Amino acid sequence: MQLATFQPRLTAPLGGDPWALEPYCRVGGYEAWKKVVTRDNPEEVIEHIKDAHLRGRGGAGFPTGLKWEKVFRHREKERYFVCNAGEHEPGTFKDRFLLRHFPHQLLEGCLIAAHTVRAKEAFIYLNHEFAEERTYLERAMEEARAQRLIGANIQGTGVTLEIQIFDGYGSYVAGEETAMLESMQGRPAMPKQKPPFYPTEFGLHGKPTLVNNVETLSNIPHILRNGAAWFKEVGTTTSPGTMLFSLSGAVNRPGVYELPLGTPLRYLLMDCGGGVREGHSVKAVFPGGPSFSMVTADQLDLPMDFDSLKKAGTGLGSAGVIVIDDAMCMVERTLHFSRFFERESCGQCPPCRIGTSELAVLMSRIEQGAGTSKDLDKLLQICGFVKGTGFCTLVTGAAVLVQSSLRLFRHEYDAHIAEHRCPFAATG
Ligand SMILES: Cc1cc2nc3c(=O)[nH]c(=O)nc-3n(C[C@H](O)[C@H](O)[C@H](O)COP(=O)(O)O)c2cc1C
Repeated sequence: MQLATFQPRLTAPLGGDPWALEPYCRVGGYEAWKKVVTRDNPEEVIEHIKDAHLRGRGGAGFPTGLKWEKVFRHREKERYFVCNAGEHEPGTFKDRFLLRHFPHQLLEGCLIAAHTVRAKEAFIYLNHEFAEERTYLERAMEEARAQRLIGANIQGTGVTLEIQIFDGYGSYVAGEETAMLESMQGRPAMPKQKPPFYPTEFGLHGKPTLVNNVETLSNIPHILRNGAAWFKEVGTTTSPGTMLFSLSGAVNRPGVYELPLGTPLRYLLMDCGGGVREGHSVKAVFPGGPSFSMVTADQLDLPMDFDSLKKAGTGLGSAGVIVIDDAMCMVERTLHFSRFFERESCGQCPPCRIGTSELAVLMSRIEQGAGTSKDLDKLLQICGFVKGTGFCTLVTGAAVLVQSSLRLFRHEYDAHIAEHRCPFAATG
C-alpha cells in the first residue's frame, strides 16, 4: 500500500455545502440505502457487515456485524437504535469532523442500521456543544426528506423511519453507551454494570438497543456499495478498513487524517503531521487518547491498529493521537489529564470518585515541587487499588495514565522532587 497516494474513503472532499444532497449523490450516496429499503433483506445486510470485519470506531473495536445480529435476532421485537455522537474525549475530534463535512454519509449509515435491526425509534445522541454540526445535520435531513429518503413511505416502499436528534448531556462519561442511554431517559448520566446491562440486551426502556459510533456508521454505506472485499483491501487482517486519526499536541499540522488501519505511527506524525517544532524531538505519544499507555520515540514504527497496539501494551481507543515533545513537562501533562479524569468522574463508583481525586491532588503536589518520593509510591498504590474497579473504564484510564507516565518518565518526577520545582518551568 502506497500511503502517499492513498485516497480517503470517508473524508474525500465532496465540494459544495456540507448539507447538500446533490454532491453526495453524485458519488453514489444513498444508493446503498435505496437498495436496503427496497430489497428488505436484513440478514444479507448483516452478513455483508460481518464479512467486512468492520470493528466499532468508538473505542472498544467490537465487531459491528455481530452487534447488529444480536439486536436483530433478539426475541424482543421492540428495539431501538442510537448513533453515539457524544464525542468528548480530550484529543478526539474526528466525529465532529464527519458531522461537519459529511452529514449525509452519517444519515445514510443511521438509516441502514436502524432499518436493518427493525428499530422502533432511531436517535443521534449529539454532543450539545456541536451547534454548527447540528444545523448541518438538520438541513441534510430536510433535503433527504424532500427526496423521500427519510420520513414516511420511503422510496414508495411503505417504510417509515425518522431520525431524531437528542441533545447530549455533555460530559465524557455520558459518551459511555449505558450512561448515554440512562441520560436519554432523564436519569443521571451514570454507567451501568456490564454484564448484565449490555445495550444489545437491556438498552433504551430496557429493550435491545443498537449503539454505534459516528465513524462506524459512516463506513456502512461504503461497505454495502463497494463490497466487503473492497473494504478489506486496506488495513490489517484483524482490523480492516481505514481509521480517522485525530492528531493533536506538539505537531506542526494537527488535524484529522484518514489512513489505513495498521499505518505506522511515524507516517501519521511525520508525513501527515509535519513532525514536531524545529529543534525539538518527540518525547512521547498517546496513540489512543489519555486513557491508554503512552509510547516513546523509539516506538514510532508501531502499526496503528487495535491488535498491534494492544500487543504493545497500549490501545487505539478512538484514535485520539496526542504528541508530547521534549520541551513539555511530562508531570504537567499527566496532571492536566489527571484533572480531566477527576472532573469527569460521575462519582457513582467510590474507587473512581476518590481515586481520581487523590491522583489529581498528588500529581498537583508533585508538579508544584512539593512532593516526596513517598508520594510516588502512593500514586502507584492508588493506581493498583482502583484499576478495573469502575462500572466503566474511566478510573482504569486515570490509573493507566499515571502508571505509564511514572514508568517511562520517572526521572522527571524525581527531578521535581529533588529541585522542589518544575525543571521545565522556564523552557516549556
Ligand atoms: C468514558 C467513556 C466515554 C465514551 N465516549 C464515547 C463517545 O463519546 N463516543 C462513542 O462513540 N463511544 C464512546 N465510548 C464507547 C461507547 O461506550 C461504545 O462502546 C460505542 O459507542 C459503541 O459504538 P461502536 O461499536 O460503533 O464503537 C465511551 C466509552 C467510555 C468508557
